[in-house]
This record gives sequence, structure tokens and C-alpha cells, in this order.
Amino acid sequence: MNDAVDKLEKIGYLELSIDPSLDLFAEIEKLKKEKNAIVLAHYYQEADIQDVADYIGDSLGLARKAQETDADMIVFAGVHFMAETAKILNPNKKVVLPDLHAGYSLSDSCPPFLFKRFKEQHPDHLVISYINCSAGIKALSDIICTSSNAQKIVESLPEEQKIIFAPDKNLGGFINKQTGRNMLLWNGACMVHEIFSLEKITKLKTRHPEAKFIAHPECEEAVLSIADFIGSTTQLLQYTEKSEFNEFIVATETGILHQMIKNSPTKTFIPAPPNNSCACNDCPHMKLNTLEKLYLCMKFELPELILDEELRLAAKKPIDRMLQLSDELGIK
Ligand code: 13P
Repeated sequence: MNDAVDKLEKIGYLELSIDPSLDLFAEIEKLKKEKNAIVLAHYYQEADIQDVADYIGDSLGLARKAQETDADMIVFAGVHFMAETAKILNPNKKVVLPDLHAGYSLSDSCPPFLFKRFKEQHPDHLVISYINCSAGIKALSDIICTSSNAQKIVESLPEEQKIIFAPDKNLGGFINKQTGRNMLLWNGACMVHEIFSLEKITKLKTRHPEAKFIAHPECEEAVLSIADFIGSTTQLLQYTEKSEFNEFIVATETGILHQMIKNSPTKTFIPAPPNNSCACNDCPHMKLNTLEKLYLCMKFELPELILDEELRLAAKKPIDRMLQLSDELGIK
């Protein structure tokens, strides 16, 4: 343990001392081959990390890719729960992430000991949890969902089925509205998606009358109510690619704009403004990962994600159910 801590401290030190002339893109490519490693990145990662990744995707795509890969080492550029999902699906592979402290506000808003008590108060309810939660919450759930498949998974269940939806109250509320269900919602939220200012977005829309306003379902109901399109990061990206419109106001973490601009270079993308003057729609957790840390974590194979086997097996069941349901329901 002390050895691991020592090594981690060394990595923190080394990050500062990486030779600036080193071509990190080339070094990372070399390490991928040497170690048979795959780099998986969420759309919210900084542009350099997206450019070096073997696969960039939303939470569902990343879980699928983690399940399919035959790499020996999965380098997960995302937040902690995403790397955890990869480890849950791949107990025999090494899973490393650039920064072990890349946590997540939504996951933190739902501690397992409190959720267990909540669940016990509603024993006749099925638990559907959004993948953005800890392994502890997954282990207490019946089915996991992502923002890509949540609606279809809920719709696939009998109407009379009572459901607890955790941890995101905004996504849960959106699914309730779409499906006419009355799921019981855990009171959690993502800090990045709660920061958008309805007033500023409304003004921006007036100044850009041709722009389509698109939003992630983790945004608050009032913001979603004025959206032209609502979807997961992959769905938002696909919408901008296929749309005949040329201008978009985007209400989700700003990292997604990199792929939007790359895939539709002639279109204009405007990040939706937060309700203050800082760049609060940059996720402070996602953005802890840097190209330097990615390089070092591949080189030293640290920090590594380790999971208790009993917890892993319990958390795997609802993820397997999600992947199976997604296949059955034809969700890409
Ligand atoms: P998706 O990856 O399902 O789009 O969700 C993004 C996310 O993690 C929001 O915080």
C-alpha cells in the first residue's frame, strides 16, 4: 500500500518534470503497442486526450467497448465510476485511469448507506440506477441505464411496475415526463448540468434565432423545456451532424464541442452559458485528467483500479442486464 502511495506521489512529481519537448502523442502510441493497451475516453475529456484515444464515446458506448476489448490494459480517460464499470466488466484486465481523484458530483450525491435505507423503505420497487453512480449503488440496483437507453429500458417494463430511479433527479424527471411513469426519484444532480442559466440561454436564443438549442437530459426541467433536442452526448453529436441547421447552442459539458466541431467543421457551436461568469460547465473532475497524466499512467500502470470481488459481482449483475436489454431493444 505504502509502495503504491509512494509511486503515486512520484507520478505527481513526474508530471511536473516531463520533458516539454517529448512528443506525448508518439510516446502514448508506442506505449499502446508495447503494453497492448486501449485508451477509452469520454466526450468530456480535453481535446488532446480525445485525439489520442482509440475510442471516444458516451457512457453506453464506453461500457460496450470495455466489454468487447481484448487489450491487456484498459486506460480509462473519464471519471472514476466509468473506470470502475470497465473493471467490473473485466476483472482479469488491468484498468488504470490518469487521475484517481477524478470523482463525480452525481455519484457523490448518492452514498450507498443512505440509498440502502431508502431502498428498504420501498421494498416493492425495482431499482434502476443511472450508470453515473458508484459500484456500491450499482450493487444495490436491479438494472443500470445510461442517458442513451434510460427511456427505452423504463418503457420495456410493465406499466404497473413500481420503480426507484437514482441518482439523477433531472434525468429521472425527464424520463417520467416522456413515459408518463411516476418513478420515485433520488434527489441527486450533476453540478455541471445544473449550472446553466435559463435567462442567459433565452437571451442567447434571441440573439441567434437560427440556432437550435440542444441539451443533455441531466439539465434542469426548465432548461429542458426550451430545448429543440434532448439526448445523450452521442445523440447530441449525431443530431448536429445530421441536422440541416448550421448553428447550435449546446447545454452539456464543453468537451463535446471538440467532436462536434471536428465532425461538422462548417457549423457553429456555442456553449450554453452558466449562471455565473466562470467556466463552470467545464467539469472539474473530468478535466483533472491531462495528456501528461495519461502518459504517466500508461508508463507506470498506475493508478490502478482495484475492486473487492464480492462488490464487483453484485455490481456486474445490473450492468449485464442493461447490456442485454439494450441489445434486445436494439439500442446502439
Ligand atoms: P452520457 O455519456 O450518457 O451522454 O452521459 C454523460 C454524462 O456522464 C453526464 O454527466
